[in-house]
Amino acid sequence: MTTATEIIRARAGTAPIRLGLILGSGLGHLAKAVDGPAIPYADLPGFPHVSVSGHNPHLHIGDFDGIRVAVFGAREHYYENGNPAAMRVALETLRDLGARDLIVTNAAGSLRPDIPPGDLMLLSDHINYNGRNPLIGEPTDARFVPMTKAHSPRLRKALARAAAAESIPLPEGVYCWYSGPSFETPAEIRMLKLLGGDAVGMSTVPEVILARFLGLEVAAISTITNMAAGLSDEAISHDHTKAMAPLGAAKLERILRRYLRDLA
Ligand code: HPA
Repeated sequence: MTTATEIIRARAGTAPIRLGLILGSGLGHLAKAVDGPAIPYADLPGFPHVSVSGHNPHLHIGDFDGIRVAVFGAREHYYENGNPAAMRVALETLRDLGARDLIVTNAAGSLRPDIPPGDLMLLSDHINYNGRNPLIGEPTDARFVPMTKAHSPRLRKALARAAAAESIPLPEGVYCWYSGPSFETPAEIRMLKLLGGDAVGMSTVPEVILARFLGLEVAAISTITNMAAGLSDEAISHDHTKAMAPLGAAKLERILRRYLRDLA
């Protein structure tokens, strides 16, 4: 069988990829900045089947502000099929294409009044509140992945520098993974706050675990689309998430472009 890596090399060339970028809810349009082919996930064996509206299931390979990147326009979430390892082949492919670094983005609810909707949060760490792990069933000792510095100090520093250069606030905080697809209750949000959470969402954590397993350095940024349940009077919905994500996306795009130009 032809692998995803072989298909991508045939269609987009064999030059190594420097960086991978996973786009979260409402952020798919950032892929337009990539100068190169968009390959449908359906053409790539092992890539996820994405069923969530507001996502763009294509892999964009090419130049983004001078750096050769692979942009994943969409992810499969755990809540779609109950598979925490849904992104494993996609991330293995990224590693096989030569990438060293991965930047993950998502939409999230904020637990912190000083990080309101429209703002961004850089993940300093996460809590796997879901408890599911994408490495369950992995037979090798490589499964015992240390997570002490899971969120790369090097990438976080570089992203913080890019944000400062763009005068965009980028506070750090702890992201809690909730399975979804239902949103949290106010009592659950009070609990997550007690546990040390700063934001809550339905993704990212399995991808960070897989990235570390594969030897990729990883950093993640949340675009805050709402205050978490019970923390404001605003109704929480997926439509609201999709409507609010572009506010943060504009800032995220400036930070990423600055980061890539500094790398180039
Ligand atoms: N909870 C979980 N996931 C989310 C939220 C939220 O409040 N907002 C956007 N994604």
